[in-house]
Amino acid sequence: MKRALLALLWLVACRAEKSPPQPAPAQPPAPAPAPAPQTDPYEAARNKMVDETIVARDVKDPRVIAAMRKVHRHRLVPPDLQPRAYEDNPLSIGFEQTISQPYIVAAMTEAAQLTPGEKVLEIGTGSGYQAAVLAELGDVEVYSIEIVEPLAQRTHKLLDRMGYKQLHLRIGDGYQGWREAAPFDAIIVTAAPEKIPQPLIDQLAVGGRLVIPVGKDGHQDLKVVTRGKDGTTSESLFPVRFVPMTGEAQNKK
Ligand SMILES: C[S@@+](CC[C@H](N)C(=O)[O-])C[C@H]1O[C@@H](n2cnc3c(N)ncnc32)[C@H](O)[C@@H]1O
Repeated sequence: MKRALLALLWLVACRAEKSPPQPAPAQPPAPAPAPAPQTDPYEAARNKMVDETIVARDVKDPRVIAAMRKVHRHRLVPPDLQPRAYEDNPLSIGFEQTISQPYIVAAMTEAAQLTPGEKVLEIGTGSGYQAAVLAELGDVEVYSIEIVEPLAQRTHKLLDRMGYKQLHLRIGDGYQGWREAAPFDAIIVTAAPEKIPQPLIDQLAVGGRLVIPVGKDGHQDLKVVTRGKDGTTSESLFPVRFVPMTGEAQNKK
């Protein structure tokens, strides 16, 4: 009897030895350190500007409205003008140029009717505001050309620091468009020629939209030219005041 008991104990001990070692109970991963809070002192002012001057007017496209809420316009103006960045006005950015009025940027972006997967060219990068709004539409490929070299260099660095690294930026005269990247689904021109540059129409895809101020001396019409299979159609939206398009456009008056 004693012998049988000993044999049984030995068997149990052997089994216990042979069973695989139990893994240590899984530990929950250590929580990642909380990111430093990104305070944006202008968020409320920006939303108020969007509500009161863009939504309350005639801009309806939710993607455009969302993009306008995202772009930090205060970072694209000189430091002394930051407190005025969310007034619905153009502001001076040096080099005798201005950052466009937010309502006009929203209206031109809406008029371009961009859908995901499309490609847009902007003529007149200037402060970078319009280009940043286009980038915030998401899934739209953005090209932009600026003729004033030192302004372009400053804006390119700023846009890069703000995280808009996916933009295609070029320094030069936008009159001839951007042939290697054409055709574009939309082209937005933010300086006014007296006549519409033909190369820009030629670089529109069929169905593409050209949004452009046309006229002289700060009195222009904002036009949308749509390229069809057999030609173009044009409509005037409203009067605007843009700086003149310089470079080759000035030889084509
Ligand atoms: C009203 S500002 C642009 C505003 C800018 N898009 C923004 O979002 O604030 C017009 C810009 O067009 C540029 N420009 C004028 N003629 C041009 C041309 N032929 N090619 C490219 N840029 C031009 C000017 O130097 C200026 O920076």
